[in-house]
Amino acid sequence: MMNGDALSSAVMSVRKLSHSDLPALLSLCLGNPQYYAFLDEEPTMDALAAEMTELPPGCLPNQKSYLGFFDAGGDLIAVLDLVRGYPAERSVFIGFFMVCVSRQGAGVGSSLITRLRDRLRGESVSRVRLAYVEGNEQSRRFWEKCGFVEAGAPIDQGEYRVVPMEYRLT
Ligand SMILES: CC(C)(COP(=O)(O)OP(=O)(O)OC[C@H]1O[C@@H](n2cnc3c(N)ncnc32)[C@H](O)[C@@H]1OP(=O)(O)O)[C@@H](O)C(=O)NCCC(=O)NCCS
Repeated sequence: MMNGDALSSAVMSVRKLSHSDLPALLSLCLGNPQYYAFLDEEPTMDALAAEMTELPPGCLPNQKSYLGFFDAGGDLIAVLDLVRGYPAERSVFIGFFMVCVSRQGAGVGSSLITRLRDRLRGESVSRVRLAYVEGNEQSRRFWEKCGFVEAGAPIDQGEYRVVPMEYRLT
């Protein structure tokens, strides 16, 4: 795993993404074709624009943070979609997490998730939930490495199934 100093030098700023970030976001997503192969779809500007504001059932826009992590040169190196208070109070749901392919395998992903967990623990969040696409071993192994465990039976989404996972903070 990357240590804190190495991560600090890789990630210089974090902010909510907006429509003007869509070209950079699309290019990051296009660098991960295997992820989209499991979904049987390809990333598009329109789909990503919709994802920026899409909410789980019963959630309000102020619960969602669609965050971009940038390096010193201003390049987008990771994206994280976070929904607070879902699926229950004191829970946080990770809807999407992706690292730029040129930065993968260097500990950026796991360091960002470790930092996120530490921060959420300080905010009295009790668990972090997510669901990965069944069969995607890269995703499964990544979340397992980050300490997440399976939390229920796979859920049918039509074209594919997703496997729920969670990390308990308390
Ligand atoms: C999954 C992903 C976020 C990992 O980011 P990363 O910065 O490369 O992750 P790290 O370097 O911190 O790797 C941490 C662990 O993840 C696992 N992992 C990462 N890439 C992997 C791969 N290609 N195959 C299998 N396991 C992998 C390993 O266990 C690794 O630990 P190790 O290096 O000690 O073996 C990144 O590969 C990605 O964006 N993939 C496409 C999108 C995706 O699958 N997102 C998650 C589901 S929402």
